[in-house]
Amino acid sequence: MSDDTVVSDDTVVSDASTWREVLAEATATLGDAREARFICEHASGLDATEFTDALGTAVSQRMGLHVQNMVRRRLAGEPLQYVLGRWAFRHLDLLVDRRVLIPRPETELVAQVALEFAAAVHPNRVVVDLGTGSGAIGLSLAHELPLAGTTVWLTDASPDALDVARANSAGIGRAGANVRVALGDWYAALPQSLCGAVDVIVANPPYIAHNDNEVAASVADYEPHVALFSGDDGLAALRTVIDGARQWLSANGVLVLEIGHRQGGAVRELLTTAGLRDVTILHDLAGRDRIATARV
Ligand SMILES: C[S@@+](CC[C@H](N)C(=O)[O-])C[C@H]1O[C@@H](n2cnc3c(N)ncnc32)[C@H](O)[C@@H]1O
Repeated sequence: MSDDTVVSDDTVVSDASTWREVLAEATATLGDAREARFICEHASGLDATEFTDALGTAVSQRMGLHVQNMVRRRLAGEPLQYVLGRWAFRHLDLLVDRRVLIPRPETELVAQVALEFAAAVHPNRVVVDLGTGSGAIGLSLAHELPLAGTTVWLTDASPDALDVARANSAGIGRAGANVRVALGDWYAALPQSLCGAVDVIVANPPYIAHNDNEVAASVADYEPHVALFSGDDGLAALRTVIDGARQWLSANGVLVLEIGHRQGGAVRELLTTAGLRDVTILHDLAGRDRIATARV
């Protein structure tokens, strides 16, 4: 460490390294420069540009240990998002930990579709995000829809997940005042007064079959199973959400669902049988079934 190295906070170990050295070591250990950079930036508390400027500065003992601990967890197989305790979703920086599913890029498209429907209805819109987990979809809508006249309900059957969603709701500022949080089994979480009055229901329910052997170990070992698996065919939760939609949606209300990449045909049939119209299956960026929409 050179004499003029800037030391910004707590004690520096005698053989203290600079961020450049710590980053190089983390990269070599992880074999992944992008993840090492994420971890070092997070430990430093700096954003990407500030971190680049700070590469020559000394790393405090506390920050060095923080990096080591995160690298150790990542090497053991824990997903990067849980190691960091945060993840970006659309415009939000979400608290994410093992109580909730890691928000996926394809779900950003689901939020986009729901947002477009919700933006197009009357100004006193009511949106419900069933099975909200971290709150990723519903909080994005609360954040991106007009502040006046918007109400977004977040529901989940997991009290742990709702604790995370509440914390994230507190992080979206004034739009958080438009958010309501409710614990319970799908529609049972909602007050009866919303029956027939919801403009947009959006849900990314669990949709993996219990015996699906394509699920990666990093997913099955770390993410909550209640957020992943749903019956022998993966359609149990989707059936429940689809069956209740006509009762809870307003006239012309819209249902937006994330679905599994091979579920388009089965979900189309469920939506049609439930008496919904304008049934559409949209694809994700990989060209696979991913989103189903339908109207009352
Ligand atoms: C696939 S995760 C989606 C989480 C979040 N909406 C997202 O897109 O990242 C499914 C969510 O549904 C919740 N869930 C599972 N069973 C439920 C039930 N019976 N009623 C309400 N929510 C349920 C899980 O706790 C989990 O948070």
